[in-house]
Amino acid sequence: MMLKTENKQAAKSPRIKSVWKQAGFVDESIPLGIDVKAEIRRMAKEKNAVIMAHYYVDGEIQDLADFVGDSLALAQQAAKTDADIIVMCGVHFMGETNKILCPDKKVLVPDLNATCSLAESCKADEFEKFVGEHPDYTVISYVNTTAATKAFTDVVVTSGNARQIVESFPQDEKIIFAPDQNLGGYINSITGRNMLLWNGACHVHERFSLEKILDLKKEHPNAKILVHPECKGPVVRVADKVGSTAALLKFAIADESQELIVATESGILHEMQKRCPEKTFIPAPPNDSTCACNECNYMKLITIEKLYNCLKYEWPEVKVDSEIAQKAIRPINRMLEISAKLKL
Ligand code: 13P
Ligand code: SF4
Repeated sequence: MMLKTENKQAAKSPRIKSVWKQAGFVDESIPLGIDVKAEIRRMAKEKNAVIMAHYYVDGEIQDLADFVGDSLALAQQAAKTDADIIVMCGVHFMGETNKILCPDKKVLVPDLNATCSLAESCKADEFEKFVGEHPDYTVISYVNTTAATKAFTDVVVTSGNARQIVESFPQDEKIIFAPDQNLGGYINSITGRNMLLWNGACHVHERFSLEKILDLKKEHPNAKILVHPECKGPVVRVADKVGSTAALLKFAIADESQELIVATESGILHEMQKRCPEKTFIPAPPNDSTCACNECNYMKLITIEKLYNCLKYEWPEVKVDSEIAQKAIRPINRMLEISAKLKL
């Protein structure tokens, strides 16, 4: 027999349709005539929800968010929020990191299909086997991994702190770095390490064309080239600045150059242009000019409509198995502690 309180609860929580569960998001049209953005802000206030967004989601979502940042800043922000609900407008691993850091809060991601090619490239069972074959290695994983993969990790890094965290280990430390071989190769090259690299890559950053970037540089000889370290080595080597999305943004604001060629997902151009309206930002072209390959199709799954519905129904919710969360929290906290010590 159902208890009275359970009855009340059932009446309170809206029914999540099975087709939505199958789809991974609330597939419902927005009521006609409403101001969606105002409604999103109203619901966020009413529910004490914080809306966080990564720089790669659509500009209009970034503008609606309470906080926009790179992966490191988003994790740092989640760790200190006093909101009851975190709506993570970004990809699933970002929601998982928030949930691990805030197990008592409701963490929502507007579309559960928003995964990440790097996270997908490093399945936990294969990674566990690999780590098991190298028992004397310290395991460093990029934040772009699933919680289950983080559970086999000693310390997590983002592109904003990878160099410093690797350098916090003795020069002769044996290190596994996963899953991004481009970021790992870049860190090896600047630190003189020889970390063992997992062979994952980001399908967006891999596709930037060195030739086309160099052609652009000929057309705009004064332009500075900004590159995310997930790009391939030859692209990274022509950069004036290599860094996380936040580091590239900071450089764009501070540098005197008026033209900047940007080799990372094009969503970052929104904040760059907003902060520096007088400068010209040129998105670096991918190899195939017929596709929008400098857009992350996972990040772009997050739309205003899905954000509205996600707040309305408080679903889809990110869940992390408690045993996995207990293991994954350690390397995440270790990253946050080292970053705090180094003031990153
Ligand atoms: P940042 O940490 O630099 O924001 O990068 C996240 C990411 O997914 C890059 O592809
Ligand atoms: Fe993952 Fe690449 Fe998308 Fe970043 S841009 S979220 S690494 S697929």
